[in-house]
Amino acid sequence: MSVVVITGAAGLVGSMLRPRLARPGRTLRVLDVAPMTAGPGEEVVQASVTDLDAMTAACQGADAVIHLAGIPGEASWERISALNINGSYVTFEAARRAGVPRVIFASSNHAVGFTPHSAFPVPDYAFPAPDTHYGVSKAAVEALAAMYHHRHGLDAICVRILSCFPEPRNTRMLSTWLSPDDAGRLFEACLTAERPGFRFIFGVSANTRGGWVSLDEAKALGYRPADDAEAYAAAIIAEHGEPDPDDPALRYLGGEFTFPAGQVPQA
Ligand SMILES: NC(=O)c1ccc[n+]([C@@H]2O[C@H](COP(=O)([O-])OP(=O)(O)OC[C@H]3O[C@@H](n4cnc5c(N)ncnc54)[C@H](O)[C@@H]3O)[C@@H](O)[C@H]2O)c1
Repeated sequence: MSVVVITGAAGLVGSMLRPRLARPGRTLRVLDVAPMTAGPGEEVVQASVTDLDAMTAACQGADAVIHLAGIPGEASWERISALNINGSYVTFEAARRAGVPRVIFASSNHAVGFTPHSAFPVPDYAFPAPDTHYGVSKAAVEALAAMYHHRHGLDAICVRILSCFPEPRNTRMLSTWLSPDDAGRLFEACLTAERPGFRFIFGVSANTRGGWVSLDEAKALGYRPADDAEAYAAAIIAEHGEPDPDDPALRYLGGEFTFPAGQVPQA
């Protein structure tokens, strides 16, 4: 019997992952501040990732933590630092105190959002180039993950997710979409790879218009993407028009998150 804690499990990515990571002999301990109903093979914990005692209790006996909880976009420094950075510190520290050997962190392309199109495909270990407070929080937690690996021996995988939604929503996502099923495949690979150590991997499907980021490290863990946003291309182009090579949203990996202050979408 294995136990996997999923923080932020009530959210978009958590809700897509839960049925896809359910296995006989595996308990998903799903944790969120929001109320949830337990599905088959699930235990529900209603707690905040900023509560070290509650998190340490939730991590007891677990084999891995998938850490999704946080603000999934741009917000004030006060909110981002309190939840995305401090909540992630508490999560790693709780995992260490409870003896959990592996933490899989939902990082983001926005940790390297200012990587220009000319540098595509972005290498797995691209130096941080965060585009927002949000991107800084992801780069900071990647550093935290490195410390917990080197100092405390945890396996730590930072998944720089591109765009994980039920369907691609715009022309950029024809290149950046991570389908729900591929997200399941990716996180399953993260859970089951033998002694992965400390890794950065990108999370994206096998999109025809992709190739923006390396998939070498993800594939080294066993990820085999099977979906392609191209299936949605005709409908998206009919709605939004053909992708324009001069579109500022396509200049950098981070898209609209690289726009001037005031034009960056807020979470
Ligand atoms: N969806 C994407 O395309 C994408 C891309 C890159 C990275 N990510 C990352 O993946 C993670 C999940 O994203 P999402 O799109 O599912 O976001 P979401 O907002 O749908 O889910 C986040 C969940 O975290 C929970 N949460 C908030 N504060 C909490 C706290 N203090 N304690 C416990 N739970 C708390 C929320 O209730 C929510 O259910 C985030 O860390 C996000 O930055 C998502």
